[in-house]
Amino acid sequence: MLLLLLLLVPLALPTVQGWGKDGHYAVCKIAEEFLSEDALFAVNQLLPDSAQGDLASVCSWPDEIRYNYHYRWSSALHYIDTPDFKCNYQYCRDCHDSYGHKDRCVTGAIHNYTMQLRLANADASSELKYNLTEALMFLSHFVGDVHQPLHVGFTGDLGGNTITVRWYRRKTNLHHVWDNMIIESALKKFYDSDLSVMIQAIQRNISDIWLNDTSSWEHCAHNYTACPDRYASESISLACKFAYKNATPGSTLEDEYFLSRLPIVEKRLAQGGVRLAAILNRIFTAKTGIAQA
Ligand SMILES: *[C@@H]1O[C@H](CO)[C@@H](O)[C@H](O)[C@H]1NC(C)=O
Ligand SMILES: *[C@@H]1O[C@H](CO)[C@@H](O)[C@H](O)[C@H]1NC(C)=O
Ligand SMILES: *[C@@H]1O[C@H](CO)[C@@H](O)[C@H](O)[C@H]1NC(C)=O
Ligand SMILES: *[C@@H]1O[C@H](CO)[C@@H](O)[C@H](O)[C@H]1NC(C)=O
Ligand SMILES: *[C@@H]1O[C@H](CO)[C@@H](O)[C@H](O)[C@H]1NC(C)=O
Repeated sequence: MLLLLLLLVPLALPTVQGWGKDGHYAVCKIAEEFLSEDALFAVNQLLPDSAQGDLASVCSWPDEIRYNYHYRWSSALHYIDTPDFKCNYQYCRDCHDSYGHKDRCVTGAIHNYTMQLRLANADASSELKYNLTEALMFLSHFVGDVHQPLHVGFTGDLGGNTITVRWYRRKTNLHHVWDNMIIESALKKFYDSDLSVMIQAIQRNISDIWLNDTSSWEHCAHNYTACPDRYASESISLACKFAYKNATPGSTLEDEYFLSRLPIVEKRLAQGGVRLAAILNRIFTAKTGIAQA
């Protein structure tokens, strides 16, 4: 289709953080393994040229453009602020931006981009309404973000962003620890500084240890295509149990915190990947719309 040719425009790739570039890459790389043939075909049609057929390579795109003037509206879509110390999440109460605009949060965005891709797949003529390349990149990114526990954190500390801590010797904040530092330290300590080795270790756990759990990870009640409310509830619960715990302002986080939290991070990356694939597989089930193009 002509439209698809127009979509194939290279993207600039500066570096800004989300889960962190590595976390998003891992989630999408894991998802790639679980894509059905139909989904893989549709995804390949939608990817920009610069991706060279690799979804994972564009999964940080929403972080790269979020402070760009034309995309500033997307900034609130990366997270959810929940009431301080409540340790729970409710869509109606919590999914809004700081001005109170409803649906402007990460779960709202997952619904939005799932719906856009579904509509386009069901009815090729609706393709023109949305940029589906962007819809795919946003969806893939936000499914990653909603699995980062502190992307569903407290309002008062902006998901840990205002909690200053030391990570070993380095001064940083708690949100950044969960986006980047845990993964960074794990790469150095356990994975030869090689992200693909870490991803392989997670994939091995998926097939050896978590295999029986993956169908419940993927499952959405009522046959919904995506169920981000569930992922967000898990995240705030993990944030309270593990992220905020023993990480008060000014504390120094070292081996004890790192080694006990790393398995949580690795499991969340696994769940994000498995669920992203399940969502894309459900969106692109029938060979209609995009898949026909
Ligand atoms: C769709 O979005 C991509 C990424 O922002 C952009 O490169 C492309 O030009 C857009 N396509 C159309 C038809 O606007
Ligand atoms: C839905 O997607 C469109 C297109 O990217 C965007 O303009 C709109 O702000 C999005 N809304 C939400 C709630 O994500
Ligand atoms: C794999 O699972 C084991 C057992 O639950 C856990 O200790 C380990 O950290 C996991 N590794 C990865 C890479 O997920
Ligand atoms: C996984 O499921 C199989 C078949 O239902 C069962 O035999 C096996 O014990 C389960 N493994 C674990 C680790 O729960
Ligand atoms: C979900 O879909 C399956 C297969 O299409 C169908 O058999 C089942 O009844 C549906 N369940 C609900 C709750 O709609």
